[in-house]
Amino acid sequence: MPVMSKVEAAFCRSEPWRAFTAKVVMPWVLNGEGLAGEVLEIGAGAGANTAALAAAHPRATITASDIDPVMVGAARARLTNFGTQVTVQQADTTRLPFEAGRFDATVSLLMLHHVVDWQRAITEVARVLRPGGRFLGYDLTASRSAKALHLADRSAHQLINPYQLRHALEEARFVDITVTHGLGRLVARFDATKP
Ligand SMILES: C[S@@+](CC[C@H](N)C(=O)[O-])C[C@H]1O[C@@H](n2cnc3c(N)ncnc32)[C@H](O)[C@@H]1O
Repeated sequence: MPVMSKVEAAFCRSEPWRAFTAKVVMPWVLNGEGLAGEVLEIGAGAGANTAALAAAHPRATITASDIDPVMVGAARARLTNFGTQVTVQQADTTRLPFEAGRFDATVSLLMLHHVVDWQRAITEVARVLRPGGRFLGYDLTASRSAKALHLADRSAHQLINPYQLRHALEEARFVDITVTHGLGRLVARFDATKP
């Protein structure tokens, strides 16, 4: 069930995007935080960041998930070298097929705005994290440029207002919530802890 347009899906699988997001975006999102234990990446796409996450955090066992079987296939092909450290699984973030409290951390990179009911996705992340588990990510904000981009591209989306994002994290009972703007307010970075 592809949720992105063909152009956007091709961009997410491209080499320039892989290099940029892995080298620039992901370190900004993680902000020096070390990942260990069971880590879930939601909306992992073609695994552009998963490989970098796995290489930089050898103590993390990563489940990379995405709703789109084409992305799941591309991620599997890209991540095969990591052996049992990385598993790729098709999953809808609004109905995660994982037991409550399983994960030590969840990473969400530029995907929530494609989950039209992203508030529901945040509730699901809270469910599958263990107490003390961390939720880290970033997404496009409801800026003029992001609106124009998505109108042209016609994929289903609901752009995120950072205040609504903070509110949704609070509603899902997260604590120690940080939401900050980046790239001239085009994106918002967030982190939060399950109490
Ligand atoms: C813009 S791409 C980002 C991919 C990757 N995180 C990256 O930074 O390269 C958004 C991804 O979210 C996935 N996605 C959209 N809705 C989803 C849902 N409900 N559950 C899981 N994945 C979803 C799409 O299939 C797509 O691969």
